[in-house]
Amino acid sequence: MEKETAQKYHRESDTMEDEVVIHIKGLKKSFGNKEVLKNINLDVKKGENVVVLGRSGQGKSVTIQCIVGLLKPDEGELTVFGEDVTEMSDDELKQLRIKIGFLFQSGALYDSMTVRENLEFPLTRVLKMKDQAEIDQRIEEVLEGVGLLDAMDKMPSDLSGGMRKRIGLARTIIVKPEIILYDEPTTGLDPITSREISELILTLQKKYKTTSIIITHDLECAKITADRIVVMNEGEYIAEGTLEEMLQSDNELVKSFLRDIS
Ligand SMILES: Nc1ncnc2c1ncn2[C@@H]1O[C@H](COP(=O)(O)OP(=O)(O)OP(=O)(O)O)[C@@H](O)[C@H]1O
Ligand SMILES: [Mg+2]
Repeated sequence: MEKETAQKYHRESDTMEDEVVIHIKGLKKSFGNKEVLKNINLDVKKGENVVVLGRSGQGKSVTIQCIVGLLKPDEGELTVFGEDVTEMSDDELKQLRIKIGFLFQSGALYDSMTVRENLEFPLTRVLKMKDQAEIDQRIEEVLEGVGLLDAMDKMPSDLSGGMRKRIGLARTIIVKPEIILYDEPTTGLDPITSREISELILTLQKKYKTTSIIITHDLECAKITADRIVVMNEGEYIAEGTLEEMLQSDNELVKSFLRDIS
């Protein structure tokens, strides 16, 4: 009897570690007569970094917009923390989005606000924080995290593209989201800044056990951040595995994506 209980607990703790945070099955999405997502299947486990590779226009961004409920899929299963995103009300989606950080392809800072104000915004508006000392402390913590403490009182227009991207990341992580969806976090950055951002993504995963999907064309970024890689082509994932597994793939398309990575 005792042994049975122990086994049961053991199994339970196994499932805790293997908790599926994002579950996607048979997902389809068309715009007009253009079938963008044909059959997307993906389970992302807690604390896992999944990198999505794929050519332009394949539906990578559309997939993550479905995950946060910005787009409604036509068919298929899509759950986040076990809840069906496609059935959520606006209020429920709002609650969900507090737990999901979304780093947009374009960065999207408020140009009329200083860096400090940009970072304060999600704390006061989303988390409804009121304690100014606590707010200041969070702002300092994330700015230090992205290496831009001295940019606190600058306007976004006074920053370089790489710095804006880092502030965008700081704004995403300041609410301590359980999931972060990165849409091309290193695009348009020089190799050194790209590497810094990639390493930051890895640090966040380790420090906060964040679950992430990282869309990238940057193989260095994939190499640094990925626990698992999926390759998207024509509305489907055509290959899936660790970097090592991908490097041994016979698939020509996969090979062409990974040619420069090793
Ligand atoms: N809201 C929308 N309305 C109509 N068509 C859309 C919409 N969003 C995306 N699409 C179309 O869906 C297709 C996939 O777009 P998506 O942005 O997901 O590509 P992507 O894989 O992220 O490409 P990239 O690597 O260039 O960012 C494109 O043909 C795009 O024009
Ligand atoms: Mg995109």
